Amino acid sequence: AEGRLWGGRFSGGPAEAMFALSKSTQFDWRLAPYDLAGSRAHARALNRAGLLTDDELAAMVAAIDRLDSDVTSGAFVAAPSDEDVHGALERGLMERVGPELGGRLRAGRSRNDQIATLIRLYLRDELRVVAAGVQEVVVALHDQAREHLGVPMPGRTHLQSAQPVLLSHHLLAHAWPLLRDVERIRDLDRRLAVSPYGSAALAGTSLGLDPEFVAAELGFSGSVPNSIDGTAARDLVAEAAFVLAMIGVDLSRISEEVILWSTVEFGFATLDDAWSTGSSIMPQKKNPDVAELARGKAGRLVGNLAGLLTTLKGLPLAYNRDLQEDKEPIFDGLDQLRVLLPAMAGMIGTLRFQPERMAARAPEGFSLATDVADWLVRQRVPFAQAHHVAGAAVRYCEERGIELTGLTASDLPAIDERLTSEVLSVLTVEGSINARDGRGGTAAARVGEQLNEVADAVQAI
Ligand code: ARG
Repeated sequence: AEGRLWGGRFSGGPAEAMFALSKSTQFDWRLAPYDLAGSRAHARALNRAGLLTDDELAAMVAAIDRLDSDVTSGAFVAAPSDEDVHGALERGLMERVGPELGGRLRAGRSRNDQIATLIRLYLRDELRVVAAGVQEVVVALHDQAREHLGVPMPGRTHLQSAQPVLLSHHLLAHAWPLLRDVERIRDLDRRLAVSPYGSAALAGTSLGLDPEFVAAELGFSGSVPNSIDGTAARDLVAEAAFVLAMIGVDLSRISEEVILWSTVEFGFATLDDAWSTGSSIMPQKKNPDVAELARGKAGRLVGNLAGLLTTLKGLPLAYNRDLQEDKEPIFDGLDQLRVLLPAMAGMIGTLRFQPERMAARAPEGFSLATDVADWLVRQRVPFAQAHHVAGAAVRYCEERGIELTGLTASDLPAIDERLTSEVLSVLTVEGSINARDGRGGTAAARVGEQLNEVADAVQAI
């Protein structure tokens, strides 16, 4: 039973296939540093409760420190007989201080409260890395928006031409959801900052250990108010999986546009060589693989969330072994974003836009029709009628194969007598854009303010 944390009531060891199913060291090893941090704090709690002498505590902490450096250097690794990271590290401790002292550490704790605590410590660290990666993407969007202030482009709804907007406005529209994702991480961190240590198996510990002390030692803001909840809950892991999935979806929506923009048909942007790939057979190809991988990984991140929620659904309180299945989806999500976020920042930051082409497309598809209607409203025409008149102007142009910008004064009487030649003055992309000057609108002055708001939000991350 080497490295096994149980066995007294069993007449033999587990079947080979049972052990293979149960084993988790191949994926939970990354929690080792957190397990050791928990052990240090727990040893101090045992000492405060009179269950370890000062000398024993000193020997224990020194051994944990040695084990920690052996884990870091790779000198200590999981053995094939180790069931999970907790069991392996207890074995490592026993090997360093002997079974007498080593065997004292487990008093008053369970792998159930350990794992619930370690995953929170781990997520707090990892989500900070994610936030920094998201910040880089926002910076890339902001840089491009700042450089291209004044470039108009077609704004779309239903992917159909809608109203002209500024490219900068559009790019910043991708920055805000990412900033909210960072806010979600910060908000989630407050909930993650509560320690389940001391919940033990489910009912708490009878040994006089102080969960608040352990929580403070581990940098938490406090300990859980309910030991059953402390060991059984994984809503915070699911919430983290949601944030990762949401980031994936936000990146995927940017990516879909980059993919469209870099087609010959759009021709709005060119990918930098360093952030695209070629084809093994078609020499002309330059493919948007970063964007496509982002789109693909979004599906995977959503799958991780869905899988985790499905694992949790229907679990009775308190700990169930099903909960071991929370780790791989969240680890995978973090690993994916670790490679994806820097590539997204690189791709976006080096995208070369084609301002003339975007500007030329901006008035196409009758995108100034709303401006005609709005002009009529300013002439006191009720909007319902104004909408109808502007629609008639669109039909008139469509029949003649021209855009609204191609109308001349002589066309107007045939459309509606309320259209005077003054309306022609609003039929410009620049006029249309700068007319939308309420807060949040696409007018250049407003987008300029928005650039500052995003810069401030990036600073505050
Ligand atoms: N490795 C388990 C997990 O990840 C923790 C161990 C609890 N095992 C147990 N039999 N109570 O959830």
